[in-house]
Amino acid sequence: MKKFVSLLLVMLLVLSLVSFASAEEKKKVGIAMPTQSLERWNRDGAYLKEQFEAAGYEAILCYSDNKNDQQVNDIDNLLSQGVDLLIICAIDGDGLNTVMDRAAEEGVPVISYDRLIGNDAVSYYVSFDNYTVGTLQGKFVESALDLANAGDKTYNIEFTAGDPADNNAGYFFNGAYDVLKGYIEAGTLKVVSGQTEFQQVATAQWSTDTALARAQNILASYYADGTVLDAWLCSNDSTAAGVAQAIESDYAGDNAVIVTGQDGDIANLRNIVDGKQTMTVYKNVANEATVTLEVAKGILSGAAIDESLIANFGGIECAFDTTSYFTSEGHFTPSFLLVPTVVTKDNLQYLVDTGLYQWDGEYLIAK
Ligand code: BGC
Repeated sequence: MKKFVSLLLVMLLVLSLVSFASAEEKKKVGIAMPTQSLERWNRDGAYLKEQFEAAGYEAILCYSDNKNDQQVNDIDNLLSQGVDLLIICAIDGDGLNTVMDRAAEEGVPVISYDRLIGNDAVSYYVSFDNYTVGTLQGKFVESALDLANAGDKTYNIEFTAGDPADNNAGYFFNGAYDVLKGYIEAGTLKVVSGQTEFQQVATAQWSTDTALARAQNILASYYADGTVLDAWLCSNDSTAAGVAQAIESDYAGDNAVIVTGQDGDIANLRNIVDGKQTMTVYKNVANEATVTLEVAKGILSGAAIDESLIANFGGIECAFDTTSYFTSEGHFTPSFLLVPTVVTKDNLQYLVDTGLYQWDGEYLIAK
């Protein structure tokens, strides 16, 4: 009996030491997302938190209501809580210098998530190939209007881009514009409003209401006389939602206008079924979270982080890129760039096959 009791005591001691050690080792990760007002960041935040916790990390998630000052405070707080690593999706890529410098001073590595921060404290960048997102939108319009075989036919188009504070927005716009530029120069495509510069077509904070108001304005000023609108290239779903609404209420023509988007937001997938939006460039953000987790694990364990890490991504298509993105002149950021997919009415089942969406009658809802 005595022997049994002492054995039990030894086991209890070992167990408590083990749990003390694992509590000690539990690394803390701070996740700063921009806003809950746009659908995708809710999904990103949830997947990141869930996946980091499942991997044994403590994950602190915050949203900053699309306000740069608030994000600076939130990241300061995360640093004060002693996080071992930061994952940040910036509201303003150039607005985080002070707090990034603090992270660097305290030796806290930073993964720039989805949007690149313009500060050399960034250790790695995880995103989708943003230029390709734009290219896919441009090519979609090119092929839907069969521009290559247009001959003397001409088509009318308008552009709506994203938030200039978001480093991605220029990549999306340029990717699309570069595909269509030749047709615009040749006169096959006409931008009736004349607004072709990024700054003219940008949408602060990617706001649906701002995109709606600008689209209404353009429709009233340039299309009210019966001019046909063939396509509206929108950089993402939140802006496409505003443009589609304006077309529905303020466009007099009865042709189906081609409207592009990005993300696969539920409301936009509904619009795709209803013919109010034509395509979206889908980015699987659960996969983006998985890649981020693997990069974080590599950083926190001191492993080499290079192309070889892709083998840990469980088959997620991704490129390791060291030449496309830089945080200051000559300071290139090692980047893991996932691959986006075009979704239209014809391949919505692709989303169901990801396991993240399900059918609800003829529409899709999140799973
Ligand atoms: C993201 C897009 C998103 C947009 C607005 C961009 O940085 O890459 O997926 O639509 O922000 O939230």
